[in-house]
Amino acid sequence: MSESLLSTRSVLVTRALVPEAMRALDGGCAVDLYQGPPEAIPREELLRRAAGKDGLLTLLTERVDAELLDAAGPQLKIVANHAVGFDNVDVPECTSRGVLVTNTPDVLTEATADLAWSLILACVRRVAEGDRFLRSRRPWIWGPSMMLGYDMYGKTLGVAGCGRIGQAVARRATGFGLRVIYHDPVRLSEAVERELNVTWCPFETLLAESDVISVHTPLLPQTRHLFGADAFRQMKPTAVLVNTARGPIVDEPALAEALRAGEIFAAGLDVYEREPQIEEALLDLDNVTLLPHLGSATIETRTAMGLLAVDNLLAGITGKRPRTLVNPDALR
Ligand code: DGY
Repeated sequence: MSESLLSTRSVLVTRALVPEAMRALDGGCAVDLYQGPPEAIPREELLRRAAGKDGLLTLLTERVDAELLDAAGPQLKIVANHAVGFDNVDVPECTSRGVLVTNTPDVLTEATADLAWSLILACVRRVAEGDRFLRSRRPWIWGPSMMLGYDMYGKTLGVAGCGRIGQAVARRATGFGLRVIYHDPVRLSEAVERELNVTWCPFETLLAESDVISVHTPLLPQTRHLFGADAFRQMKPTAVLVNTARGPIVDEPALAEALRAGEIFAAGLDVYEREPQIEEALLDLDNVTLLPHLGSATIETRTAMGLLAVDNLLAGITGKRPRTLVNPDALR
């Protein structure tokens, strides 16, 4: 593709990426970068600025639907989503219009697994609660029954959804001497199960036998509120639930009630049903650890995600096959 043809292409980038990824866009095309306040680009502005663009580099905060595709126009070639999850994108709608959709898989697997483990340990051993307690400046003294959590070693970890990130979480369980069970509609091969030392089980068994459940399913109609009142009733009262996948997989009011009533011991959340809003009832509970969607938030990982999203975007606007294409049918 000649330089001049490249520079006639224009793209909308809905939020500044890390500097290395922004530099990778230099000279590749005309870039319209939303630089407003840290909140997501307002919908009206998104619709207006998408008009006439060849590519959109979107974040999980933007809804990509028929309305946005109409506003962009028929020359739109690609939506490069800066996330592994793409539940914010109406993929069938993009495919029917021949618009490519890409995501950023693999590069964030290890960072997200690390964060899931940070939440697991924070909940089991009451780490964030301990920090909050000291900051409250209340008097304290070491005591045999003070702020007791549970042993991690030798317990059962349940992985709900055992794709790339679920497997990376399971792999980290070895050092904690854990028994690992998983539920996923797609069963892993025997070789992978053996390598990871994991055992498939029905969802009900996962609920009943896990001391910690870590959620790694994508958000789909069948996983929305997968963890609701009924699921919490089936979990151990000593169990911990950690969600680093997508907020709506957990019914937040039901979770708050289960935590309040002692149906489960604790929860760790990195994602929220109505992100960035947090369910008010959760904010008042000490047995929940809340993080602001930090799963992939490391310098190395966000750089790799940004570079991959830009690479996909530039490929898409110049008629090449992007590296991590979600909808190959759009090419036909
Ligand atoms: C993703 O990529 O889907 C995460 O939620 C953000 O990194």
